[in-house]
Amino acid sequence: MSTGGQIKMEPLSKFSGVKILGVDLRNTIDGSLAEVLREALAYYSILYFPGQDIEAEHQADFAALFGKVDRSLIRSGENPDQKQSSRGVMYVSNMKENGRNIGVLPDGEMHFHSDGSHRNSPYRATSLYAIKVPSKGGETLFASMTAAYEALDDGTKVRLEGMTAKHIFNYNKTKREDIPEKAEASAEHPLILVHPQTKRKSLYLSRLMTVKINGMAISASNELLLSLFDHCEKPEFIYTHEWTPRDLVIWDNRSVNHARRDFPSEEDRLLRRYTVSEPDTDDHGSY
Ligand SMILES: [Fe+2]
Repeated sequence: MSTGGQIKMEPLSKFSGVKILGVDLRNTIDGSLAEVLREALAYYSILYFPGQDIEAEHQADFAALFGKVDRSLIRSGENPDQKQSSRGVMYVSNMKENGRNIGVLPDGEMHFHSDGSHRNSPYRATSLYAIKVPSKGGETLFASMTAAYEALDDGTKVRLEGMTAKHIFNYNKTKREDIPEKAEASAEHPLILVHPQTKRKSLYLSRLMTVKINGMAISASNELLLSLFDHCEKPEFIYTHEWTPRDLVIWDNRSVNHARRDFPSEEDRLLRRYTVSEPDTDDHGSY
């Protein structure tokens, strides 16, 4: 890809991810570079910028290049940033202050999912910035749902066409088996998603959030879903991101799922998140 200037892009894995060097996210991104980054995110699904020394506002401005930054979350009093005015920021952390968690999704392994699939308008993209990371574990795994779709046999592709499924989410549950039947939020989406920019098809389902294929008996739905989860989570479709402080990663929730590996609970982990929605999406005030 031609990037102009001093920007350098290096692929991270066979199917997804590109490391981008030569961009300082404290600076304003001009229109032509923004267009290059939007195209790169659509085609590579994950952009990784190492060594970024950024505040929440820089991250929000960066996220805004890709759509509408969600601004409904207000977490005043739990915010470790100096500036409390950054609406929409969410901290993913196991750290506590005065006995209270300073963030959400604190501990342990987290099954594969796509952020916001329990919403009628899921998040288009998610950005995470690493502030503190444990000495081992806590990696984020990204599964290329485009590659997983393309690897299906033709019969399965035809069978899945037109199917829809129910996605649920219960806040702070991180494994499928922990999710109670009654969801706090749910939405229905097609099993196959066509990316609006690339026109490539991806599977849109995940172990954490997709509970049932509509119109199927529960046993048949479970059997098909579990086989598709296993298929999507095969090592050949996965890029594993090992976090270093000052890493900024943004991914496209329409073409990759992500999961988290376990990490030592006694070690601090702190990441700052902003999500990006379609421009015409109403904020729902939930994650
Ligand atoms: Fe997530």
